Amino acid sequence: MNISEKLIAKLSEAKKVCVLTGAGVSAESGVPTFRGGGSAAVWKGMPFDEISSAKMVRENLSEVWEWFDYRRGVLAKCAPNPAHVILAEWETRFVEFTLVTQNIDGLHRRAGSKNPIEVHGSINRSRCVECSRTVLMDAGTIPHEPDKCMDCGGNLRPDVVLFGEMLPAGAFEKASEKAENCDLFFVIGTSALVYPAAMLPEIAKSRGAFLVEINPEETPLTRFCDESLSGKAGEILPGLNEILKGHA
Ligand code: OAD
Repeated sequence: MNISEKLIAKLSEAKKVCVLTGAGVSAESGVPTFRGGGSAAVWKGMPFDEISSAKMVRENLSEVWEWFDYRRGVLAKCAPNPAHVILAEWETRFVEFTLVTQNIDGLHRRAGSKNPIEVHGSINRSRCVECSRTVLMDAGTIPHEPDKCMDCGGNLRPDVVLFGEMLPAGAFEKASEKAENCDLFFVIGTSALVYPAAMLPEIAKSRGAFLVEINPEETPLTRFCDESLSGKAGEILPGLNEILKGHA
């Protein structure tokens, strides 16, 4: 792995570190990514963006739950990989550390991250369509429980951002405030195509942060980065962590 002297220095001096992750960070855990690899997900003949849509929640909530329970079942058999584990360790390694994830798979939390900002929600939470109360679900309980809101009896839906929906209130604002104020920003395993999450590296760089990408493929961000590490997150992050330990 080719890591520049500049990145080694930045890593050892950094006080405020921010990381944005996408589906690629979970690829080595066996979770399929959205783009690339030629595998457009289809559920009962319905394309991914149709079954995972706000329209389907309104028109056929039980079908949406069947699909999400199926995905929860697949995820229950996946385990966090070294990239998740190291990012969880980094929470206590820097003066300030912020993990922002676009992933709903819950693997960062399962690896020990206490405070990820989940800008697209979590597959392990449900939300009442009436009063918005959220309920944490046991990752291993399939089908989901409970079925109705314990406060108002309303229908529950997965607490994730579906196609055609806005991000949860406050999540992006919190993430962008951290991006504005960090000195080192990592963008890991995301195609950097889906906004507004893809704005975060741009915000960080425009405020003077050193921007590092970890991805085996080029993205629209690659040329914009101060350093681009081409490879798998589960292989590159352990290498960076060793460097960090050497400077502890
Ligand atoms: P994508 O599927 O668009 O991109 C995954 C990225 O991970 C690609 O750039 C791959 O090259 C990279 N990758 C693959 N294996 C990797 C590995 N082992 N290590 C590091 N990188 C690897 O996924 P996202 O960018 O996360 O939104 O997609 C963003 C959003 O699009 C998702 O959160 C989802 C979707 O619409 C919602 O569901 C709201």
